[in-house]
Amino acid sequence: MSDADFVDADLVDAARAVLDRAYVPYSDYRVGAALLTADGTVYTGCNIENANYSNSLHAEEVAIAEAVKAGHEAFERIAVSSGVRDGVTPCGMCRQTLAEFCDDDLAVLCDEGDAVTEYTLGELLPNTISLDTLDAAEGTTE
Ligand code: THU
Ligand code: ZN
Repeated sequence: MSDADFVDADLVDAARAVLDRAYVPYSDYRVGAALLTADGTVYTGCNIENANYSNSLHAEEVAIAEAVKAGHEAFERIAVSSGVRDGVTPCGMCRQTLAEFCDDDLAVLCDEGDAVTEYTLGELLPNTISLDTLDAAEGTTE
């Protein structure tokens, strides 16, 4: 196993390890995420649902919030796992949240149980809106 594979397997394991913490009384669909920072720290998150469904937090958002709160804004890769190992990918909202901090080449590792499918954020969310978009529009009128 190469070093890169070892890191990926570790990150997928970290995403699986937090599945137990998911609070999912409504969907019963557990999601875990593990985010690797540029300095090698791993932050994890799980989904936390709410009786007002739209208040539910997604695993990726929780991981990003934990990492940013701790002072990190540069990320290498993220692993996402569901309790049923179905290769879940981050939803559109989470892709956009990742794009706030990560470049198109961020690796997104999706757990399929006996395999991991790797995407780039750019594949999952091309043409994202970003700070650059807003800077470029500054001073223009419609
Ligand atoms: N979920 C996540 O945690 N991350 C995603 O990006 C996809 C969806 C959660 C939200 C909800 O608690 C459950 O999965 C079913 O949609
Ligand atoms: Zn999401």
